[in-house]
Amino acid sequence: MPEPDSVKAKPHDLLTRRFIAVTGKGGTGKSAVSAAIAFAAATLGRRVLVASIQRYEKTTGFLGAGAPAGEVFEVQNNVFAVNITPKAALREYGLMILRFERLYRRVFEDTLVRYLMEALPSLEELVMIGKAWYHTQERQETGAWRYDTVVLDMQSTGHALSMLSLPATITKAAPPGPLRSKAKEILAAVTDPKRASLCVVTTPEETPVNEAAEICERNAAEAGMPPGFLFVNRVIEPEFGPSELDLGAELPPRALLRTAFVCASFRERVARSQSGHLARAQRDIPLPAVILPEVFSEEFGTAELAALSKIITEHCHGSV
Ligand SMILES: Nc1ncnc2c1ncn2[C@@H]1O[C@H](COP(=O)(O)OP(=O)(O)OP(=O)(O)O)[C@@H](O)[C@H]1O
Ligand SMILES: [Mg+2]
Repeated sequence: MPEPDSVKAKPHDLLTRRFIAVTGKGGTGKSAVSAAIAFAAATLGRRVLVASIQRYEKTTGFLGAGAPAGEVFEVQNNVFAVNITPKAALREYGLMILRFERLYRRVFEDTLVRYLMEALPSLEELVMIGKAWYHTQERQETGAWRYDTVVLDMQSTGHALSMLSLPATITKAAPPGPLRSKAKEILAAVTDPKRASLCVVTTPEETPVNEAAEICERNAAEAGMPPGFLFVNRVIEPEFGPSELDLGAELPPRALLRTAFVCASFRERVARSQSGHLARAQRDIPLPAVILPEVFSEEFGTAELAALSKIITEHCHGSV
């Protein structure tokens, strides 16, 4: 475990970074936080693309659920989304490098080559990060960047780290050639503290906090991305003191009161069990922590994202 406080990364103005990678344990809210960061940056007038890494063609992204892989679409003013799958990235990257579709077909759709690609998962990862990076380099006709910020909504820990480490690995290990120079270019961009930031999402629970700590350690050792923020998501603050709500008390006899009591006790139990993990995350993880509350609503949609996005602006923008 890293030493508390002394090694914490300094907070920076996240919303003006050009490349923000977001990872964390599965289901902790990576896609929700990526979308909220995008809305926060778009509110400042930046054009933002959320690139969501998806393993399979049937996409489930938060902003782009069901959208065809590889296609950029506008979610709202200044917010764009794209789902990046290995197949679509391979195809586009193949086209980008090889330029001719016929040649692409011959090279990439050949059964043997396809088989080899599937057997070499790092190649899939390289084309996916390559595609995400490519979007940071796109320009409009006016010469301005097409996207001021690209938020990379990544998969959980293992996959994300092997993807982020790939440019460094290839730069070190590959023989000189186009692959190595591309990897070197991506490496320079993703490790540049002025341009990039690696943010981690956790919930205040045992395993997600452990994974968040592991991400930070492995990032420092393997990928070298500039450390960003830790988003502790779905936090429920305790509402009662121990003397105000006795969790072991007998249930009230009347049905409505009984239901209310059960709900309040449940909420309080969760809040109390979260508090130790929240404190551990704030103390042991070497990133400045931002607390994002559990938003109680029937559906998690635009209004809920806007609430998170407001908190992100308050804590991650300006002279933080
Ligand atoms: N702060 C929050 N308050 C309430 N619900 C939330 C919050 N953050 C996320 N959720 C809920 O949790 C669900 C999972 O969030 P999300 O899809 O962002 O997680 P993920 O880490 O991207 O998951 P995966 O690993 O599958 O990609 C969302 O559909 C949303 O309903
Ligand atoms: Mg997700």
